Amino acid sequence: AESVKVGLLGLGTVGTGVASIITRHQKELQHQVGCPVEIKKVLVRDKQKLRENSFEDTLLTEDPYEVINDEDIDVIVEVIGGVEQTKEWLLRALLNHKHVVTANKDLMAIHGAELLKAAVENDCDLYYEASVAGGIPILRSLSDGLSADRITKIMGIVNGTTNYILTKMSTKGSSYDEVLKQAQELGFAESDPTADVEGLDAARKMAILATLGFSSPISLDDVSVQGISTISDVDLKYADRLGYTVKLIGIADRTKGKIDVSVRPTLLPNEHPLSSVHNEYNAVYIHGEAVGETMFYGPGAGSLPTATAVVSDLVTVMKNMRLGVNGKSVLAPMNEKLLKSSEE
Ligand code: NAP
Ligand code: HSE
Repeated sequence: AESVKVGLLGLGTVGTGVASIITRHQKELQHQVGCPVEIKKVLVRDKQKLRENSFEDTLLTEDPYEVINDEDIDVIVEVIGGVEQTKEWLLRALLNHKHVVTANKDLMAIHGAELLKAAVENDCDLYYEASVAGGIPILRSLSDGLSADRITKIMGIVNGTTNYILTKMSTKGSSYDEVLKQAQELGFAESDPTADVEGLDAARKMAILATLGFSSPISLDDVSVQGISTISDVDLKYADRLGYTVKLIGIADRTKGKIDVSVRPTLLPNEHPLSSVHNEYNAVYIHGEAVGETMFYGPGAGSLPTATAVVSDLVTVMKNMRLGVNGKSVLAPMNEKLLKSSEE
């Protein structure tokens, strides 16, 4: 069968992981979708940059329209980040009837409803599993696996960088600046790490989780946010002496119809399960009226874990293509919920 052609926007931490999984897992992907998966073009900022992976050199372009206007490309995978410019490119791609997979929580937390509307209007898919909690399939679990339930609370660690920083500061006695630098080198941090350390990245993810979980549009302005930049090693030492661990915790709570969403550093007893979530790992509790408490745990940032979520979305898009159901909400429960909530 003819290959499905992918236009990759970005070849950084996540983009490199996506290219690697598509190459290394080609056989498994073909087995699932019935045809080869081919990266046709790759958008980068600087073609001359030295890159470890040279197989795509000939595919690189610095012109986004060479990718999003390419008639051969079926799916756009967006892993460049950014908000307004990226939104324009993705809207253009959707108008060009290309399906979109993105890892961009900044974009989805602000313009998610508009993009999803454009996707449905153009019979396109738009999936964004990697935007929250990296390799943990949390959006699917929330929107699909738990769709029969009434969600009352979502709580957890949803930022890998700050969890890495807090872990290393308390277990190794490393300095804040030193571990922030490590988190950047490991590819966990955002291009501007202020978003991580000031809690904004976690707030964006909590807004997405709360919107899906409560079927109610929650914007960033609805989330009260405090980051970890003012926490010192002395604070962590005292907490430890008293039997506590400091974690950046996001909570979305729905009580009697009222929704509260917050992100803030929190003292947890050392024996609390979230206290043993270390480094870049994330963990999310979802409480439903019927199911009770469920917990999801896994790598919340990093190249291959995040790319797994991206490529799994790509597989869903390709399966939808085979069935001819792209843009149909029956196979896109998360889209249906978000769209419905934005129209109410
Ligand atoms: P990154 O390492 O900084 O890579 C960004 C890539 O996009 C680079 O290849 C860069 O080109 C390209 N790029 C950026 N701006 C561009 C522009 N204006 N025009 C053309 N190309 C541009 O970023 P990342 O860590 O992979 O993150 C990408 C996205 O995934 C972000 O939305 C992030 O929030 C999200 N995400 C990241 C992680 C993670 O663990 N890193 C996890 C979940 C979600 P050059 O290579 O030429 O510089
Ligand atoms: N900067 C983000 C984090 C990447 O550290 O969690 C994953 O979304």
